[in-house]
Amino acid sequence: MSAQPARSLSPLSEDKLALLARVTEGLDSDSLLWVSGYFAGVASSQRRAPLIQNVAAAPQGAFAAVAAIEVAAAPAAAQRLTIVYGSQTGNAKRQAEALAQQSEAAGLGVRLVRADAYPTRELAHERLLYIVISTQGDGDPPDDARGFVEFLVGKRAPKLPQLKFAVLGLGDSSYPQFCAIGAKLDARLAELGATRLIARGDADLDIATVAEPWGKQALDHARDVLKSDAPAAPLATVTPLRAAAAAHVSAWTREKPFTAALLANQRISARDGSKDIRHIELSLEGANLAYEPGDALGVWATNPPALVDALLTALRFDGASAIALHNETTSLREWLLRKREITGLNKPFLAAHAQRAQHADLARALTPEGKDALRRLLAEYQLIDLVREFPASWSAEEFVAALRPLAPRLYSIASSRKAVGDEAHLTAAVLDYEAFGTRHVGAASHHLANLADDAGVPVFIETNERFRLPADASRDVIMIGPGTGVAPFRGFVQERAETRSMTAGAGGRNWLFFGNPHFRTDFLYQIEWQQALKAGTLHRLDLAFSRDQSEKVYVQHTLRRRGKELYDWIQNGAHVYVCGDATRMAADVETALRDIFIEHGGKSEDDAREALSDLAAQRRYSRDVY
Ligand SMILES: Cc1cc2nc3c(=O)[nH]c(=O)nc-3n(C[C@H](O)[C@H](O)[C@H](O)COP(=O)(O)OP(=O)(O)OC[C@H]3O[C@@H](n4cnc5c(N)ncnc54)[C@H](O)[C@@H]3O)c2cc1C
Ligand SMILES: Cc1cc2nc3c(=O)[nH]c(=O)nc-3n(C[C@H](O)[C@H](O)[C@H](O)COP(=O)(O)O)c2cc1C
Repeated sequence: MSAQPARSLSPLSEDKLALLARVTEGLDSDSLLWVSGYFAGVASSQRRAPLIQNVAAAPQGAFAAVAAIEVAAAPAAAQRLTIVYGSQTGNAKRQAEALAQQSEAAGLGVRLVRADAYPTRELAHERLLYIVISTQGDGDPPDDARGFVEFLVGKRAPKLPQLKFAVLGLGDSSYPQFCAIGAKLDARLAELGATRLIARGDADLDIATVAEPWGKQALDHARDVLKSDAPAAPLATVTPLRAAAAAHVSAWTREKPFTAALLANQRISARDGSKDIRHIELSLEGANLAYEPGDALGVWATNPPALVDALLTALRFDGASAIALHNETTSLREWLLRKREITGLNKPFLAAHAQRAQHADLARALTPEGKDALRRLLAEYQLIDLVREFPASWSAEEFVAALRPLAPRLYSIASSRKAVGDEAHLTAAVLDYEAFGTRHVGAASHHLANLADDAGVPVFIETNERFRLPADASRDVIMIGPGTGVAPFRGFVQERAETRSMTAGAGGRNWLFFGNPHFRTDFLYQIEWQQALKAGTLHRLDLAFSRDQSEKVYVQHTLRRRGKELYDWIQNGAHVYVCGDATRMAADVETALRDIFIEHGGKSEDDAREALSDLAAQRRYSRDVY
């Protein structure tokens, strides 16, 4: 359907109205609302230079326009705080946004920029720069900050004697490279001659513990630095992106989740297979939770009750005893069930436990020579294994205080709202394995798999602007999603099928690469893919069942085998998406893609690397890996 702007009250001429009708053609009502909010913001910014600009979350089409506004209306660098963030799953973004809002409320001129939208040539002119960035992979930058980090640590980075800066790193201390990227940038900026205003923050999964005091200090320093130059303008009220975002605001957030009812919970791997994979359908009815294919659903789990019992027994605690912490008093059982992480381990807890256990092995694991032992402990032990093997004396209060607050788990949404309405579908691998002679399960995947029929689960939408279908529906897409990595592509294919039927068949082609151990037991959504092939909504399907033959075959092998056609598709403008395992698959797929550029594009290794970076910069190579 094409949108028809009202003519009678319009200040626009006929030809401008026709142009407007053309550019809004095909947009649904949500998108039209967004666009109207967006242009309200643009109009507002033309009347008054905003103090805060967010050059980040714009959809592809609007991006150039927003960047232009930012340049035209930005306060001079000397009067402005620039906050650059790099974020994979939204945590660093949230912290950066909060800091930007507080700074704005304090009357400071602020520019908030996602790292991949930051023009690095401007670095030499910045006076005050805050960086909020997470660490991913094995000490890698988030995807949206790859280029920014590469530039800053590389030879082309300018000397920065005029710059004052501060860095907040986000990470997870159960990873050996804790907050490594924050640390790297902090050290590098100092090396380039910039002045560090405050010590680097290294925020663990209980982000606020470090981020809040860091943010307060950062704000105080920004006030001091900008005080003399800060414009005495009134507080900005509407900015382009805020106005645009207003159309999307839902009452439900990470902190205030919506309780979604369970509609379906079906095992989609064979019962005799090695993995238990569930297709979960949740109802979002009445929530006004708008998601796009590519977004994830945040799930707040309840910990496994049997694990809570096992911990209470091992530590000789009484689950009914009342524990007061951070102005909250509730039973110990409740703390362990719903408020604390009790599955994985992290280094700060390990250190606290080691002190109490006085065990030589634990003490050694915390020394530089014990690095490998520490890595093994963090990877293989759950909390219960640690307290059983290395008994220690804890009071219940101290124990709860030493555990990390429960964090939500993210699951790629495996549906399109255009196809399923007010529902969100997930594809969840249930973590359930034997170790140390007992059963071990994962908190959220076990919770989802065991939800009672009439139960609800607290959820929120974690948007992922980096993982979006092309705005131009006639582009081809290549989707590489082995294992549960296939989840978002079910949503992509649904969305493209619906868009196509609405726009009378103008869609590009869809090519899916899927892999798993066995064809018979692990071919997720087999029937749906076959139907999609038949219906012409999926055009190519390439499969890699790794253990169905003597030699292992993974998606990266299939990619290489199809190298010539893949290269042609990419040359023809296709967008490439990778989702799933971050530890091995994502890197192996990247190497395969690079080799395809070398073999079929006649490029050198460096040129092939650059071609992939260019593709990523154009948002034509996007990854969602975990
Ligand atoms: C952006 C994003 C999207 C995601 N999408 C999906 C998705 O679509 N589908 C999906 O299934 N998952 C997805 N995940 C992963 C998901 O969020 C959870 O991490 C996963 O389900 C495990 O969570 P859990 O609470 O069940 O386990 P946890 O309670 O977090 O894990 C328990 C602990 O067990 C230990 N452990 C785990 N496995 C083993 C093992 N084999 N051997 C020994 N110890 C082990 C580890 O110490 C771990 O910390 C995604 C993650 C991200 C970041
Ligand atoms: C696949 C994966 C790898 C990670 N690797 C690291 C790491 O090497 N070091 C670290 O400190 N944190 C690591 N983390 C934890 C994240 O940095 C942490 O969850 C952070 O809060 C995410 O912030 P973001 O949502 O802004 O990306 C990893 C998380 C994931 C999902």
